[in-house]
Amino acid sequence: MSTSSNGSPTVKFFSGEDIPLELHKVRIVQKLNLIPIEERHKAIVEAGFNTFLLTTKTVFLDMLTDSGTNAMSDNQVASMLRADDAYAGSQSYMRLEEAIREAFNCRYFLPVHQGRAAENIISKTFVKAGDVIPMNYHFTTTKAHIEINGGTIFEIYTDEALKVKSTHPFKGNLDIGKLKDIIKKYGADKVAYVRMEASTNLIGGQPFSIANMREVRQVAREHGIMVVLDASLIGENAWFIKQREPEFRDRSIKEILHEMIGLADVTYFSSRKVSSTRGGGIATNNEEIYKKLKDWIPLYEGFYTYGGMSIREVEAMAVGLIETLDESIISQSPSFIRYMVNELDRLGIPVVTPAGGLGVHIDAGQFLSHVPQTEYPAGALAAAYFLVSGVRGMERGTISSVRDAQGKDVLADIELLRLAMPRRVFTLSQVKYATDRLHWLFQNRHLVGGLRFYEEPPVLRFFGGKLEPTTPWPEKLVAKFRADFGNSL
Ligand code: F0G
Repeated sequence: MSTSSNGSPTVKFFSGEDIPLELHKVRIVQKLNLIPIEERHKAIVEAGFNTFLLTTKTVFLDMLTDSGTNAMSDNQVASMLRADDAYAGSQSYMRLEEAIREAFNCRYFLPVHQGRAAENIISKTFVKAGDVIPMNYHFTTTKAHIEINGGTIFEIYTDEALKVKSTHPFKGNLDIGKLKDIIKKYGADKVAYVRMEASTNLIGGQPFSIANMREVRQVAREHGIMVVLDASLIGENAWFIKQREPEFRDRSIKEILHEMIGLADVTYFSSRKVSSTRGGGIATNNEEIYKKLKDWIPLYEGFYTYGGMSIREVEAMAVGLIETLDESIISQSPSFIRYMVNELDRLGIPVVTPAGGLGVHIDAGQFLSHVPQTEYPAGALAAAYFLVSGVRGMERGTISSVRDAQGKDVLADIELLRLAMPRRVFTLSQVKYATDRLHWLFQNRHLVGGLRFYEEPPVLRFFGGKLEPTTPWPEKLVAKFRADFGNSL
């Protein structure tokens, strides 16, 4: 095994082909359903053209998210059998604390039932009405929790972040100049904290560099401001740092994680992502901060030693966190993502580059350039892609945004269809199928039209909202599919 020029641990093929190799074997399998397009049509209509509302019976490849869907390892599953079920003081929790010390180098830890629960507790504790929270980019639940506590977020990404085609290795970097401007404008006492998100989700799973995080830390420290790190995708960010930041080429993932987390005052995460289980947590080395956060845990989550998780999940999380230190595990998603991104790019399909962590991100604004942003091109593309392939992606565009005080859509910076690549779940031929159907859809993109809401929840509308096509475009797409593919599924 060697490391390829672009860094992923790959085996060189005699043919010279650059393809990712599964560094694991499949020992438990789950049957998938690939139903005919006519049935998928019915399913997407019933789901209000919202892929969140599909049932998995109708889905072939579920690329909605990597949250709670990464494959667990044999060691994780085995660990669940030794769970020491106890309301308080479980030995399983002691093992989790040990794993946090080893992987994150943090003394204090608070378990929570998932990432957004950590966001609730951090926002409740540190955000007051009128506060501002600068960050490299928001995540939907993060923003909602900050705003519900009266805070305002500022996304101070660099100019490169929203460029679809880029070769910048660290599009998740925070713009230090803009950070200084915000502190000057609002005053340091109004800045609740600066938030850095590892492998920045909504701009395409793009990492930040340690050099950037060091600068953030320095500016924050000069003004007595806390740095909060969202570590939900920290394994992948650490992996990219090792590949792309020369100072860290020869450092272990563990050393890189310790360096990143050492630059934050508080680190929180969704364990549904980082350790392939459920749950989440908040880690710190600052006793004062720990004490401030601690009291909310029994109120919102559960006792300090389970935090809303089952003890089995606590065990599996401990093992999963240690596995995050293994390059052959954390490189799996990024190397499959890179493969698919390169293929799509080669086919001329507008895809976010460089390949990031989390998934493949398609620029729906370009893909469906004839669909106005007010008719939700990313949502339309997600629905159309499911229709023609059974692959379920997620809209990350204006539907995931909000309305302003006048009731008008706040148009998203960028309309993305996200195709998540859960860790060690899909095979290469499945990825090839997903690529092939997207290619066909790109050739037939002129057939796809827009969407409009007919049921719209006031908060996080993308989860439960229902939409309908603005024209009968799905019927046309089904007819063209049948004409081209005959009776193929
Ligand atoms: N922070 C980030 C960066 C996330 O990606 C997520 C979840 C959360 C916080 C919230 O964590 O779901 O455990 O409550 N992201 C999922 C996704 C939902 O599909 O990207 P949670």
